[in-house]
Amino acid sequence: MSKGLLISIEGPDGAGKTSVLKVLLPRLREVYPAQVITTREPGGVAIAEQIREVILDIDNTAMDAKTELLLYIAARRQHLVEKVLPELENGNMVIMDRFIDSSVAYQGAGRGLDQDDVAWLNNYATDGHKPDLTLLFDVDSETGLARIAANGEREVNRLDLEKLDMHQRVRQGYLDLAEAEPERIKRIDASQTLEEVVEDTWEIIKSYL
Ligand code: TYD
Repeated sequence: MSKGLLISIEGPDGAGKTSVLKVLLPRLREVYPAQVITTREPGGVAIAEQIREVILDIDNTAMDAKTELLLYIAARRQHLVEKVLPELENGNMVIMDRFIDSSVAYQGAGRGLDQDDVAWLNNYATDGHKPDLTLLFDVDSETGLARIAANGEREVNRLDLEKLDMHQRVRQGYLDLAEAEPERIKRIDASQTLEEVVEDTWEIIKSYL
C-alpha cells in the first residue's frame, strides 16, 4: 500500500470539476500535512500528453472506439508509473482530473464497449490501483453541454462534439458506478452554484481526511 492519498475527480463534460478544484486546492494545501499535487488524464507527463493530442484531435473522426480505449489506457499507464505512483510513495496527495472511471463511463457506457473488457484492460494497465476517494460531479447532459457552449475559454475537443445521447449514456454510466461502489465514489450535485458545489465537496473531503 502506498503512503499517500489518491483522489480522482470525475464527471460528464461541463460538470465544472476543474473550477471546483481550483477553489479547493488552497484549502486542501492548508490542511494536508504533505504536498498536494494535481494532474490530469489523458496527459500529465510528456508521453501521455502526446497521446492526448492524438485522442482529442477534432480531425481524427475516423478513430475506432477500441483504438480510443487503448490510447486512453496507454496514456493512463505511463502517467501512473511515471508520475502518480512516485508521488504516492513519497506520501503526497495526488488529485487526478479523471482516471479509470472515465474509461468505464465514456468508452464502456458511452461508446458501448464491453464493460468486462474495459475493466480488465484498466486493471492490467494500473496493476489494480484504484483511487482512495472519487468525487463524482454529476450534472444532466443538457446543463453540461450548455456550460461548455457558454465557456469561450475552453478548447472544444473531439468528445465534446458527440451528440446528446452519448453524453446521456456517459452520465448514466457514472451513476451506475456510484451505485456499485458507494464507499469509494461520492456523488455531488454539480447543477448547483459553484459555491454550493465547493462546500459540498469540501464536506466530503473533510470527513474523509
Ligand atoms: P478534457 O479537455 O480534459 O475534458 P474535461 O475538462 O472534461 O476533463 O478532455 C478529456 C476528454 O476525454 C473528456 O471528454 C473525457 C474523455 N475521456 C474518456 O473518454 N476516457 C478516458 O479514459 C478519459 C481519461 C477521458
